[in-house]
Amino acid sequence: MLREILISLRTRCAPVFVRLGYRHAAVACVARAARCAAAWRAHQEATRTHILSAMAEVPDNRDTAVIMGSGPCLDLPMTELLARFARVILVDVAHPPAALRLTRQHSAIELMERDLTGVAALLTDSAQTTLPQPACNAFVEEAGVGLVVSANLVSQLPLVPLRQAAKRWPDTDLATYAKAIVTAHLDHLRAFNCPTLLIGDVQRRVIAPDGQVTEMEDPLFGAELPAGEQEWDWTVAPVGELSNGWSIVNRVRALRIDQAGKNGPAFTVSHRSG
Ligand SMILES: C[S@@+](CC[C@H](N)C(=O)[O-])C[C@H]1O[C@@H](n2cnc3c(N)ncnc32)[C@H](O)[C@@H]1O
Repeated sequence: MLREILISLRTRCAPVFVRLGYRHAAVACVARAARCAAAWRAHQEATRTHILSAMAEVPDNRDTAVIMGSGPCLDLPMTELLARFARVILVDVAHPPAALRLTRQHSAIELMERDLTGVAALLTDSAQTTLPQPACNAFVEEAGVGLVVSANLVSQLPLVPLRQAAKRWPDTDLATYAKAIVTAHLDHLRAFNCPTLLIGDVQRRVIAPDGQVTEMEDPLFGAELPAGEQEWDWTVAPVGELSNGWSIVNRVRALRIDQAGKNGPAFTVSHRSG
């Protein structure tokens, strides 16, 4: 508990995002990542590997990488990113101590506190009388961008807006709203003209102590995600993290948004777990 308070105090997060609960979620994620480090390792490694593959296709004349949902940067090949790019822009609503530490050590890193749904601040704005519609074009006009990564972010985007919409506009069709948020993120990524990689959850399975899958959820609320290069399982809550032997496994997909529908690489499914 004391550790979490310290992480919270050292997390950079604008007051409006703190009020919405983003800092709380970021701190919980850092703490969970520490507890579940062994179970998360293969997933983080797979994420890094896909980022390195996309990096290999960055045009020579581009010097900037934009990483969306950077958080504590546990899934980023930071050494390689810093060796290749003059600027590495880390974008998140909350930057935990690990991101701040990296920024102090490397002048190439720029931290940006941005909400990538475009609705977060509006959801708490008393002048906003109707449900705000998601849209974001952050960094699309930024010069020199050669790589864009959405790093295990997409399924997280609807969570806070849904809670807030349910409170302020109780008649909202929440599933439709969540789908619009995911779709707006895909549209945002499609606006870049460089290797653009999305890595994110496409399915969540709740597993009983006897190994039976008791619930299977679509974390993208029906939004169309193109086929990808690879999928793998991420044991996000291993046995022991939840009570009484239950666990949660997310299916994660890596896909190149800039290649989708353009004869991109063949789709393969890995059954590796971790
Ligand atoms: C599952 S974490 C992944 C963090 C990081 N990629 C890692 O694995 O170390 C998802 C991240 O998305 C961020 N996030 C959630 N909603 C966001 C939003 N609306 N705009 C920007 N970032 C957001 C969270 O703060 C969190 O850092």
